[in-house]
Amino acid sequence: MRTTILDIQKMKQRGERIPMVTAYDYTSAQLAERAGVPMILVGDSLGMVVLGHTSTVPVSLDEMLHHTRAVVRGTQQALVIGDLPFLTYTTTEQAIQSAGRMLQEAGAHAVKLEGGSAMAPTIARLVELGIPVMGHVGFTPQSVNQIGTRVQARNATDAAQLIEDVLELEAAGAFAVVLELIPAQLAALVSQRVRIPTIGIGAGAGCDGQVQVWHDMLGLYTDFKPRHAKHYANLAEMITQAVATYAEEVRAGTFPSDEHSSKMSEEALQAALSQTGE
Ligand code: KIV
Repeated sequence: MRTTILDIQKMKQRGERIPMVTAYDYTSAQLAERAGVPMILVGDSLGMVVLGHTSTVPVSLDEMLHHTRAVVRGTQQALVIGDLPFLTYTTTEQAIQSAGRMLQEAGAHAVKLEGGSAMAPTIARLVELGIPVMGHVGFTPQSVNQIGTRVQARNATDAAQLIEDVLELEAAGAFAVVLELIPAQLAALVSQRVRIPTIGIGAGAGCDGQVQVWHDMLGLYTDFKPRHAKHYANLAEMITQAVATYAEEVRAGTFPSDEHSSKMSEEALQAALSQTGE
């Protein structure tokens, strides 16, 4: 049975912490689900970790749809949330088009969009139309050119605004909200003030759940580790070693061995040769 947004909300009510990870393809989605993760985000972070851009800004809706389809095909139980990329929800009408495509064409079960109270009317309309929405406040990567990359809402005014924002997203019907790069005490306080689950990244342990970017948590980079990420594996090292061993074996002629090859009968080979006239 597929996890629903109600299941996710019940987890908060029961005091169960909620793990979420990003995934961008069929195989990683299968692995995340096999590991028991109930909610997978196809984040527009794919712009950096999969497509090699320096921010999420260049990511298109078609790219998001393409990757979301693959993730949906890799899952049977997880709730799959498709991120709406930069400038694809500037008006309510445009948001309906973009979110509609995410559900109808890619098979996502919910969408995520960035922004505080200004997004509340759009979220309310999407929810009214049957499109579950996850909010995203604090550091919002699509605004990187405006706000830089740093912890948000450290001062009283910004912190009060952030609390207002989350309350308005909840009132608009968002089923959950990502809190990214905000002080841990503020995230804990917000999490207690709202009924919807808060999913933190760089927001401390007081959130109802956590999200990690697949490549960050698995150590798939050789040269980059954000402070909020924990490496649960060092796959960059393991993959480099494995590929180097393969390349060595090819050069040495020890791969493929008989075990990785198939054979035909000598008669069939001779008959083939005679048909070619040799
Ligand atoms: O795009 C993404 O991966 C995200 C998470 C960091 C929340 O938005």
